[in-house]
Amino acid sequence: MILNTVTVRAPATSANLGPGFDCIGMALDIWNELTLTRGEFSVSAVGEGADLVPRDSSNLVVMGVEAVFNYIGELVPGLQYECTNRVPFSRGMGSSSSAIVLGLLAGSAISGADLSKEELTMIAADIEGHPDNVAPAIYGGCTIGVHNGDAGWVVDQVSIPEDLNAVLFVPEMFVNTHESRGRLPDRISRVDAVFNIGRAALLVNALSTGRLELLRYATDDRLHQPQRSEGFGAMPHLIAAALTGGAHGAFLSGAGPSVLALATGREVTISYEMAETARHFGVDGKTMILAVTRAGASVVSGAAGA
Ligand code: HSE
Repeated sequence: MILNTVTVRAPATSANLGPGFDCIGMALDIWNELTLTRGEFSVSAVGEGADLVPRDSSNLVVMGVEAVFNYIGELVPGLQYECTNRVPFSRGMGSSSSAIVLGLLAGSAISGADLSKEELTMIAADIEGHPDNVAPAIYGGCTIGVHNGDAGWVVDQVSIPEDLNAVLFVPEMFVNTHESRGRLPDRISRVDAVFNIGRAALLVNALSTGRLELLRYATDDRLHQPQRSEGFGAMPHLIAAALTGGAHGAFLSGAGPSVLALATGREVTISYEMAETARHFGVDGKTMILAVTRAGASVVSGAAGA
């Protein structure tokens, strides 16, 4: 059914989880919202990064909506965009993917196309270039995504313990993902590849069997964290502090700068240890404790009338 207005929500996400660079990610229980209404084009935003997001067609929410209309072969109608942003902006918590997914889902609903999760994921991952934020934003929980030639993006969900929480230290600085990726080498040694392959497999198995004591080893990485720590010397110390505080495992969230610890208890102690370590290294920021959510992006409400 074609709608006049729709409100959708999409969660924050954390990508990589240590060794799963560009493939593995999970959804966090904090949500951005978009209300899309037919009318003269306008973009408004409140909340995180509201002063920084563009108000034209380069806005990722707008790009998401327009991608749906292109996908279904229809002209983009006049639309008003009202964004409520709660996911910290440019901190490695998937704010860009959340925006893309909001746009796709809202475009899908208002046009009446009602695209499947698989279709939304294909379009979103093509826009983003990798599926480790957009897939968990769409499906919820923890996902693995790979690109497989003609088959496109292949995504599967990983079972996770029900009581899994994320404790984050969110530094008061922005990281540009594109620039951060530019610092990563194109080639790696076989030794480093083996290091990550084993840990990515161990990570998925530890999450799905609930053997969380393995996460201490399974969240280590050689593909991006050591390189990214060159511009953020406190990172390994924040990870170590989280483990000292009782986290099962800890890693750089996405391209950073946030550091995320996985926990099923002692969350306050972990956040205290991370905050103290950040203070010691002169890194301003805040801690957050968020559940890992099984819910993905969804339509909150919609109406067909004028
Ligand atoms: N896998 C991506 C990266 C996540 O680490 O660059 C951030 O977009």
